[in-house]
Amino acid sequence: MARRKKIYEGKAKILYEGPEPGTIVQYFKDDATAFNAEKKATIDGKGALNNRLSEFFMKGLAGIGVPTHFIKRLNMREQLVRQVEIIPLEVIVRNVAAGSMAKRLGMEEGAQLPRPIVEFSYKDDSLGDPLVPEEYVIAFGWANQQDMEDIVSMALRVNDFLSGVFFGVGIKLVDFKIEIGRVWDNDFMRLIVADEISPDSCRLWDIETGRKLDKDVFRRDLGDLADAYTEVARRLGVLPSNVTHAHTPTLIN
Ligand code: TMP
Ligand code: ASP
Repeated sequence: MARRKKIYEGKAKILYEGPEPGTIVQYFKDDATAFNAEKKATIDGKGALNNRLSEFFMKGLAGIGVPTHFIKRLNMREQLVRQVEIIPLEVIVRNVAAGSMAKRLGMEEGAQLPRPIVEFSYKDDSLGDPLVPEEYVIAFGWANQQDMEDIVSMALRVNDFLSGVFFGVGIKLVDFKIEIGRVWDNDFMRLIVADEISPDSCRLWDIETGRKLDKDVFRRDLGDLADAYTEVARRLGVLPSNVTHAHTPTLIN
């Protein structure tokens, strides 16, 4: 069989040409990186867990009318998605002060914010994904005013949805990052949620214990990352409840 064409390899995923024009196969690797790939490791099972979790969230979003790139899961590690033109922004929504916001403003991690705050980072690893004001985004033509309004309202809808889903399983959604892509249906451009939604791109704290269940476990050496992600998947019903060991996740179909 002919090898398929690799389009792009990122830190956690590989994109291959899909079977139909306008489609992409998104392959989830077991690699974890942090601090712009200064810190790296391979975490057995992470790719399969994130493939499942991203499927779960993207389907949930479609169910409430938020358009996403997700078409279908293909196997343990791969999903078929729509090809998009990625807007070069990390769209971050914060409910609680943590991470770079807490550091920048000298806030204690865990302080509830007065309302959800949406911010934008320019996607460029060599620059460390710097925070950018909307003014830059519009002036440099990465998106226009209308796009930005749509992106903010989409990000807040995603926040409402994810916050509710996590709250239902005893998890606080502290913050998360999404990426937005453009697609054209004939002459009409639409913005849709792309990339992935997984514990790699969220901060998730157990409501009872404060245990971290996201990539901070890896960034800050707080324990076994696959155990944390397995716990998230198990609570959401993405894994059967009898799976206790992270390294042999028996994924249900
Ligand atoms: P930050 O506090 O480090 O700015 O991160 C905010 C959120 O964005 C957090 O949930 C983790 C996520 N994130 C990514 O998904 N990719 C990144 O490269 C960074 C820096 C953060
Ligand atoms: N995703 C970035 C990296 O891999 C930063 C992070 O998530 O901490 O370096």
